[in-house]
Amino acid sequence: MVLLNTVFILFGGTGDLAYKKLLPSLYSLHEKKLLPGKFVILSLGRRMTNETAYKNSIKNSFNNFTPEFLSLIRYLKFDVNNRNDYSTLKNVLENIDKSYDTKGNRIFYLALPQRFSKQITLNLKTHKMINRDKGIHKIVVEKPFGNNLESSKKLNADLKQVFKEKEIYRIDHYLAKEAVTNLFVFRFSNKIFSDIWSNKYIDSVQITAAESIGVEERAQYYDNSGAVRDMVQSHILQILSLTSMEQPENLSSESISRKKVEILKDVKKFSDDDMANITVFGQYLKGCLAKDYVKENKVSNNSRTETYFAMKLEIENKRWNGVPFYIRTGKGLKEKRTEVVIFFKENLDNSLFQQKLCYPNVLTITIDPKPAIHLTINSKAAGEDYHITQEKMEFCHSCQLEDDNTKPYERLLYDIFKGKKDLFAMADEVYEAWKIIDKIVLNSNNKPCYYESGTWGPKESDILLLKQNKFWNNE
Ligand code: BG6
Repeated sequence: MVLLNTVFILFGGTGDLAYKKLLPSLYSLHEKKLLPGKFVILSLGRRMTNETAYKNSIKNSFNNFTPEFLSLIRYLKFDVNNRNDYSTLKNVLENIDKSYDTKGNRIFYLALPQRFSKQITLNLKTHKMINRDKGIHKIVVEKPFGNNLESSKKLNADLKQVFKEKEIYRIDHYLAKEAVTNLFVFRFSNKIFSDIWSNKYIDSVQITAAESIGVEERAQYYDNSGAVRDMVQSHILQILSLTSMEQPENLSSESISRKKVEILKDVKKFSDDDMANITVFGQYLKGCLAKDYVKENKVSNNSRTETYFAMKLEIENKRWNGVPFYIRTGKGLKEKRTEVVIFFKENLDNSLFQQKLCYPNVLTITIDPKPAIHLTINSKAAGEDYHITQEKMEFCHSCQLEDDNTKPYERLLYDIFKGKKDLFAMADEVYEAWKIIDKIVLNSNNKPCYYESGTWGPKESDILLLKQNKFWNNE
C-alpha cells in the first residue's frame, strides 16, 4: 500500500511518551521502510530551546537513531497556551508542505495530558490548519479519554467540533499487543475452543494486569487517577470484551466495536451495597520493590488512591450467566504479568479412574511479558496404574516474536498511516466502559487495604476468591 506523504505533528515532543515509545517506534518503521515516502516529524515542546538541543537530547535517550532518521525531524519550541505559537505553527507547516511535498496531509498526535486537547484542537481550527480540500487530516489521542463518562463525552464533543469520527484515532496500546490481537484469532478460528467458550464448560475467568514497578515519575497524573481509571477503564475492560464478546460480522472497527459495546452493556449492574463484597482497593507499602506509595515523589501524604484493584464481575447473557470474571491490576506487585486464565469446569464423570477427580483444565493466555498460550491436561503418569497427573501443552508465542515493548506503538502508528482503525477504541465503547468505572470510583474513597510491595497484593483480594473456593493464578 502506498502511504501518503505526511507531516507528523507531535504535541508533547519533549515528553516521556515521545522519547520512550513514539520516536523509537517511528525509527523502527523508518528502518523497515514503512514510513510514507515523504515524511516529516515536527516535534513541538517547551523544554528544548531549539532543534539542535532537541536532537541532542533525543540522541542521548536513544543512541541508535541514525542521521537519516534524525534528518526527518524538525523541532518547534511551542507553548500550547500561547496563541501566537499557533500562527507560527501554521507558517511552519505551510513551509514544510512546500519544501517536502507533504501535500497538506497532517497527523496531529496529542502526546500531552488530555486537559490540553480542547484548546489545541480549537486553535488548529481557528488558525486554519485544518483544510480538507488540501489534504488528509488525522488526530491521535491517548488514553485516558476523560476522567468519567461526562468528561469523556465532553472531550469527544470538543474533538468532534474540528475532526470527523473517521479522523479520530483513540490509542489503547494494549489492543495492539500481539497476544491481545491473537485472542481474536484463537477464539474465533478454533472450533475446539469456540464451541466450548460458554458457561456450559467454563467455570470462571481471571484477568490479571500486574506490574512490579511503582508509580515512578507519574504521580502527578496517577495520584488523581488510580488503578481503576488508569488500567481497568481501558486495558482490562478491553481484554474482558475481547475475551467474552460474540463474534463480529467482519473485522471492521464498527463491527468489532458493536460487539464490545454489547458485552459491556451486559456487565451486571451492581448496587453500592454489593461493592464492598465484590471489590478490593489496595495501596502498596514499603517492601522489596518500592517505598510506601504515600512517600513517592509528588504523592500527597494522606493519599487514598488505589494502586491495586480487584473485582468480581458478572456478565448477564445466555453465554456467560453464572460465570464470575475476576479482574485484578496493581503496581508494586510481585512481577510483571498480564494474562487471561480460563478455568474449565470439573470433570465429575470419571469413575473410571481411581482418583476421585481429574484436574479441571486450565487455559492460560499470557500477554506479557512473554506471549504464550498453555493448556493443562490430564495425563497418565508413567507406570502400571492409571494415576493421573497434570501436564502442560504449550504454544510459545513469544519465541516467534522480537522482544520489543515499543511494538504495539509501531503497529498502531503504521495503522494510522494506512487509515486502518480496527485496533483503536471507538467512542461508544469508551462511554460504556466509563459507565462501569464511574460506579466503581464512587466507592473508591474507602480506606484502601494495604499490601507490601513485591507481593501479590492485599490479603482481602485472596479472600474475595476464597469466598467462592477459588484462588488467584499466582503460579
Ligand atoms: C499505561 C498505564 O496505559 O499502561 C501505566 O497508564 C502502565 O500506568 C502501562 O504502567 C502498562 O503498559 P505495559 O505495556 O507496560 O503493560
